[in-house]
Amino acid sequence: MSIDFQAWTNSHLSRFESVLGDLLPSPDVAPQRLHQAMRYAVLQGGKRVRPLLAFAAAELVGAELSRAHIAAASVELIHAYSLVHDDMPCMDDDVLRRGKPTCHVQYDEPTALLVGDSLQTLAFQLLADHKLNDEGARQLEMIKLLAQASGSRGMAGGQAIDLDSVGKSLTVPELEFMHIHKTGALIRAAILLGAHCGAVTTEQLAKLDHYGKCVGLAFQVVDDVLDTEADTATLGKTAGKDADHDKPTYVTLLGVQAARSMANQLHQDALESLAGFGEAGQRLRELADFIVLRKY
Ligand code: IPE
Ligand code: IPE
Ligand code: MG
Ligand code: MG
Ligand code: MG
Repeated sequence: MSIDFQAWTNSHLSRFESVLGDLLPSPDVAPQRLHQAMRYAVLQGGKRVRPLLAFAAAELVGAELSRAHIAAASVELIHAYSLVHDDMPCMDDDVLRRGKPTCHVQYDEPTALLVGDSLQTLAFQLLADHKLNDEGARQLEMIKLLAQASGSRGMAGGQAIDLDSVGKSLTVPELEFMHIHKTGALIRAAILLGAHCGAVTTEQLAKLDHYGKCVGLAFQVVDDVLDTEADTATLGKTAGKDADHDKPTYVTLLGVQAARSMANQLHQDALESLAGFGEAGQRLRELADFIVLRKY
């Protein structure tokens, strides 16, 4: 990771942390326990890959940072909700997330359920409350985009397929369909929402969309690899749980080496879709590198 990219990431993320802190309900406001649990699930943790993608896409089209903050926060709240629910006993039954006890362990299951519900609705409230584009029609498009990426035709649908696939051996196209939905959809939405905060052209959107599809799928392929190769302390979540839960993954289907080479192909494809952007696409290139080469 270049020093320049590291500095860009750090400066964005320190500002974004305080933006998130302000957008979430105060821990002193009733119902305090729910609000505290929402903050626990969102603040001080995670790589913030989706917000960084939104910032990079927003910068590419010259969008105002304050608008990009709201777009990025909406996606990160949906992501945090998806993790809280993903970790519950009825889903992956995990006790560790972002190096801390999972939300239902730290609080309790009903609270974790409500944290997910509340983060999800807060995400859409943000997109409705703040002016994100001078054209109202485009802002409505953004709300629709996040809804589609989050719901049964996006992340939640992918999660349903994931749960239904336990103990089964999927074909490569079936696995790709699951991953594109459960993880790819929100990552793609993060990039498009960032771009919609500015004057993005249809041609730029098509390139960004292709980039988003590639890095979104690559992200979950690498997640599958790291689940088998990395350790719990590095990941901040329990390693080896896909095998424990008999989940079909790119590793079980193709083996680690072929899964890695698939991630590398997607990486190249993502970089190619940025070719026309020249220097302006540099942050997105570096984020693609990070997504594929990351160790956690
Ligand atoms: C984990 O996402 C869940 C998947 C979609 C693979 P991240 O790896 O982005 O989790 P955080 O936000 O960094 O904790
Ligand atoms: C989760 O996939 C995708 C979500 C929508 C949260 P995983 O179940 O593989 O994510 P981790 O490994 O628990 O972070
Ligand atoms: Mg899961
Ligand atoms: Mg999980
Ligand atoms: Mg995983």
